[in-house]
Amino acid sequence: MYNLLKGKRGIIFGALDENSIAWKIAERAHEEGATFVLTNAPVALRMGAINELAKKTNSEVIPADATSMEDIENLVTKSMEILGGKLDFVLHSIGMSVNVRKGIHYTEQNYKFTEKGWDISAVSFHKVMNVLYHNDAMNEWGSIVALTYMAAQRVFPDYNDMADNKAYLESIARSFGYFFGTEKKVRVNTISQSPTPTTAGSGVKGFDGFFNYAEKMSPLGNATALECADYTISLFSDLTKKVTLQNLFHDGGFSNMGVSQSIIENFSDNE
Ligand SMILES: NC(=O)c1ccc[n+]([C@@H]2O[C@H](COP(=O)([O-])OP(=O)(O)OC[C@H]3O[C@@H](n4cnc5c(N)ncnc54)[C@H](O)[C@@H]3O)[C@@H](O)[C@H]2O)c1
Repeated sequence: MYNLLKGKRGIIFGALDENSIAWKIAERAHEEGATFVLTNAPVALRMGAINELAKKTNSEVIPADATSMEDIENLVTKSMEILGGKLDFVLHSIGMSVNVRKGIHYTEQNYKFTEKGWDISAVSFHKVMNVLYHNDAMNEWGSIVALTYMAAQRVFPDYNDMADNKAYLESIARSFGYFFGTEKKVRVNTISQSPTPTTAGSGVKGFDGFFNYAEKMSPLGNATALECADYTISLFSDLTKKVTLQNLFHDGGFSNMGVSQSIIENFSDNE
């Protein structure tokens, strides 16, 4: 370990179980010397797994529904009290689509569900930054990261309304990132991660298919949750101070591929 986050304080949203990307990020942040508060929606906390992570990383857990301004206000105020000062990093690792969960086709969305998924998966990022910004809760040269997926730019039919939510999320990163940069010298980025077998990931119809497809298409293969954690740590560290307003692909090269030899072989006529 490199002590990349020594003395840094943060908040980590979205560790549900040991497969969660946020779980790996919390473990890596702890190894790199950070102190942080873990948070998740009250309903997710009832599963209890997060307490194990809290113990392992000497962290406290504060429940917060990321769509509730009141919950986020409470979370940010209490986190600064517990950690003893302003924050250096915040991870938004939250996603949920009711349409996906209920197997409703993209063309037949239930708009109540659409709105809920949009609020949880995208607007929550604005809400979190709103509270951090107006409470002056971030230290200068702090770093805020949200996780996203390439369905924001390209069509993945079964990703459903989450594709639209991710496009909105990435736009919020740029728009709020401008104000956070100019006013507070804080950077805001999204990491566009490979398909990863987690609760949220595996919930997408046909996940195995596009996981294997991406694996064969990417020159370096799919990026794992642990590799995503390593990349995130670099963005929280002082080694990336001037990186902001970016959507950063962490996908083994998938996003710039047209086709790979391995995929061609699957489709060639045997001559
Ligand atoms: N798994 C993948 O294939 C993949 C690929 C690219 C990006 N991502 C993104 O990574 C992030 C983390 O997902 P994951 O794959 O680790 O799955 P996960 O299911 O482990 O994490 C999703 C988290 O969102 C939380 N959440 C849901 N509603 C919430 C609310 N109202 N308030 C607060 N938290 C809430 C859940 O409790 C859970 O902890 C998501 O943004 C996801 O879209 C995942």
